[in-house]
Amino acid sequence: MKRIVILVSGRGSNMEAILRARIPGAAIVAVLSNRPDAAGLATAHAQGIATLALDHRDFADREVFDAALAERIEGFTPDLVVLAGYMRILSDAFVRRFEGRLLNIHPSLLPAFPGLHTHRRAIEAGARVAGSSVHFVTPELDVGPIVIQAVVPVLPDDDEASLAARVLEQEHRIYPQAVRWFVEGRLTLVEGRVRVRDATVPAAGWTSPPLED
Ligand code: GAR
Repeated sequence: MKRIVILVSGRGSNMEAILRARIPGAAIVAVLSNRPDAAGLATAHAQGIATLALDHRDFADREVFDAALAERIEGFTPDLVVLAGYMRILSDAFVRRFEGRLLNIHPSLLPAFPGLHTHRRAIEAGARVAGSSVHFVTPELDVGPIVIQAVVPVLPDDDEASLAARVLEQEHRIYPQAVRWFVEGRLTLVEGRVRVRDATVPAAGWTSPPLED
């Protein structure tokens, strides 16, 4: 059984998608948040999952907070740490500690539009496609090796909310897929590049590589 810890800062819909997927061989052992009021914490608690809030405002600085958070995470002896709408920049020490077992989802087609306000920036730039990326976390924000992406069109009448909703629907498909690959031991980093053993060869369509059952 692979032990998974999920970090959330808010709604937690990606966390829910991963829970819903009921990935064989995966145990979601805890959900942690830097925000005590994160809706995702309550959702996880209601499903009988251990939850823990560590309010970053109670700590002197990022390094001290991240060290405390890392200690708590290690207490659950995770094989994989999943950032699911975790909205804090991570210190280098934290990232190094969980290197190779730390995944994030970002609502853009990385390397385009890292950081905040991705949908607004995509619309303003006139991008014709948008999407989401699951990637391994490296010290630089939103830059790590990409595991899977989903593409959606940007429609002429889109605003931030409509584009975000279209992207989110795809996030809920690709994040469980990436976690499944990891749990199956098929997802590896080779010299900084992602390899997925026996992944379906991409065909024309909106996701690359395509989703699998
Ligand atoms: C998701 O769209 C996720 O990609 C994004 O926050 C949202 C969280 O929603 N993450 C980031 O922007 C990280 N840079 P959720 O709490 O419902 O999963």
